Amino acid sequence: MQDKIQKLEQRIQILTKALNDLQNNYEEKVLELSIIRKTADLFTYEFDLKEACSKTLDILYLELLPEHSSILIRNPDTNIFEPYAVKGKKIPGKGLKKGLSTLFGNRFRMGVGAAGWAAQNKKIIYIPDVTKDTRFFEGFEQKVKISSLICVPLLNQDNVEGVLNLSHSSVNAFPKRNLNFLNILMKSIGAGIGNIRLFNEYTEANSSLLKANQDLQNTLNDLHETRKVILNSEKLSGIRVLAAGIAHEFNNILAGIYGYSELSLLNKNPYEIEANIKNILKLSDRGTEIVENLLTFAGKSKISKKTININTILKRLIKIIRPEFDNLGIALKEEYGKLDQIRCDSNQISQVFVQLMANAKDSMVEYNGGTISIITSQKKDLIQVNIVDTGKGIEPEILENIFDPFVTTKGAFGGGIPERHGLGLSLAYGIIKEHGGDIKIVSQPSNGCKVTVLLPSGPSRK
Ligand SMILES: Nc1ncnc2c1ncn2[C@@H]1O[C@H](COP(=O)(O)OP(=O)(O)OP(=O)(O)O)[C@@H](O)[C@H]1O
Ligand SMILES: [Mg+2]
Repeated sequence: MQDKIQKLEQRIQILTKALNDLQNNYEEKVLELSIIRKTADLFTYEFDLKEACSKTLDILYLELLPEHSSILIRNPDTNIFEPYAVKGKKIPGKGLKKGLSTLFGNRFRMGVGAAGWAAQNKKIIYIPDVTKDTRFFEGFEQKVKISSLICVPLLNQDNVEGVLNLSHSSVNAFPKRNLNFLNILMKSIGAGIGNIRLFNEYTEANSSLLKANQDLQNTLNDLHETRKVILNSEKLSGIRVLAAGIAHEFNNILAGIYGYSELSLLNKNPYEIEANIKNILKLSDRGTEIVENLLTFAGKSKISKKTININTILKRLIKIIRPEFDNLGIALKEEYGKLDQIRCDSNQISQVFVQLMANAKDSMVEYNGGTISIITSQKKDLIQVNIVDTGKGIEPEILENIFDPFVTTKGAFGGGIPERHGLGLSLAYGIIKEHGGDIKIVSQPSNGCKVTVLLPSGPSRK
């Protein structure tokens, strides 16, 4: 009986131990699972790699109780592992970080020392007693006592993102069963680090894209500003041309008036004095004409409108100029469409066509003739007059500012013959605009020129 009781007690003892072991094992597994969950959670909300490494070491401490721990991350450019987080017992005479940096915080290369070995072989290195493992001493300067050590490569698929180091001053400090758990952790931490890297690369790329976009916007703004400055300077240069033109015209007129007046003072012959005065009057008329032209261009001239058919104005004008054009070998072709009557200042509209016909004639003089076609047509509420010549055409640089006063390729300004003043088209432009119409010129050098005048005849007319 006694024997039986003893055996039973022994059995109970064995069972109790097994139960205790099971209980411990169970608690350990729960802790391990909670650590795996905590690290996984950590990497979903933490995007600062240093912070993430430091918090990982805090979480691991709960289970593994290392005296010193560190995470070193591989720099993909240099392939050197650099310290991102270090933790451990304070080392006398040194700051924690500084002391640890001599031990665990040491940068290392792939393959150098225990951590380098783990990284190169993509395997956890478990050293229960460092005195019995030569890999430990390679490349290390030991400032704190390390007797047992674990180095865990942090794997993101096949990539080594970093290494986790855990150490203790006593031998066999880490139970071998920890290795299974660390095997799972090395992949989840490695993947987490890879994700943070990716996220940071994306953010960096995104911010450089935003910066490039901002730079582009700034360049565009600068361009707008530059355009404004150029436009202003173009306006200014237009005004300069205008001022120079006026000065040139009136200088000529004043020089003439001055010359004839002086001659009259010196000369007592009444016939010659009369001839001089007539010349002075002619010059004054020229001055008045220029002023009137400029006023028309500026839209300041007086206009008196009556109802008339544009065909009538053209026919009258062509009848007058035809003999002169015949002499120059210039054929005039007239094609009149049926037109609505319009209200306009017929003198001024005649002036427009006089100027246009004069320009067409000038462009053909060098060619010893050619043809000018005058074609009219009604386009809905618009009357269209096309004057097409077979002359020398217009250079693009002249075409740009052709309606500005004093733009000419002829005479004193243009250097050509006959002497002209560059006022004809500006005058025509002013008149047509005053009548609510438009005037356009298309031309290519040596290919003649087509001038189109549009005048409103319907409700849009002024
Ligand atoms: N039909 C055309 N063919 C070729 N060039 C032309 C024609 N019409 C105008 N141009 C060019 O445009 C310039 C300006 O013409 P615009 O009538 O304003 O002045 P201008 O004829 O030079 O002088 P003004 O008319 O004062 O006598 C001319 O000098 C000429 O170079
Ligand atoms: Mg002209």
